[in-house]
Amino acid sequence: MIGRLNHIAIAVPDLTAAAAKYRDQLGAETGSPQILPDHGVTVVFIDVGNTKIELLEPLGADSPIAAFLAKNPVGGMHHICFEVPDIDAAIVKLRQDGARVLGDGKPRIGAHGRPVIFLHPKDFDGTLIELEEMGE
Ligand code: CO
Repeated sequence: MIGRLNHIAIAVPDLTAAAAKYRDQLGAETGSPQILPDHGVTVVFIDVGNTKIELLEPLGADSPIAAFLAKNPVGGMHHICFEVPDIDAAIVKLRQDGARVLGDGKPRIGAHGRPVIFLHPKDFDGTLIELEEMGE
């Protein structure tokens, strides 16, 4: 069902400092910060060729990554995102298999303008998994 690894998201306490490390120490092509109020984050995308790294900094008081950073103050890997051809079909199959879809269980539009869902980390070995619909 899953296809390519679309991105790995890393929550960071200081986006400017984190992006500078990737650019200056690791020599990566880093994008400009993008403010995503609907998602409660500011993000820097880093294209590493076979996938992307997304550095996430909390935006606003009810940012979805605020609790994660409270537990992991130096930052840490937050989620991994796989591409799927049909997100509704993926939801049906995962539910049948007993996996929990977070939120109201329906896809919402993610940071790239495509439908996404998140799966409960306790159902996937402690890893928060995002599925993003990329079409057939
Ligand atoms: Co993501």
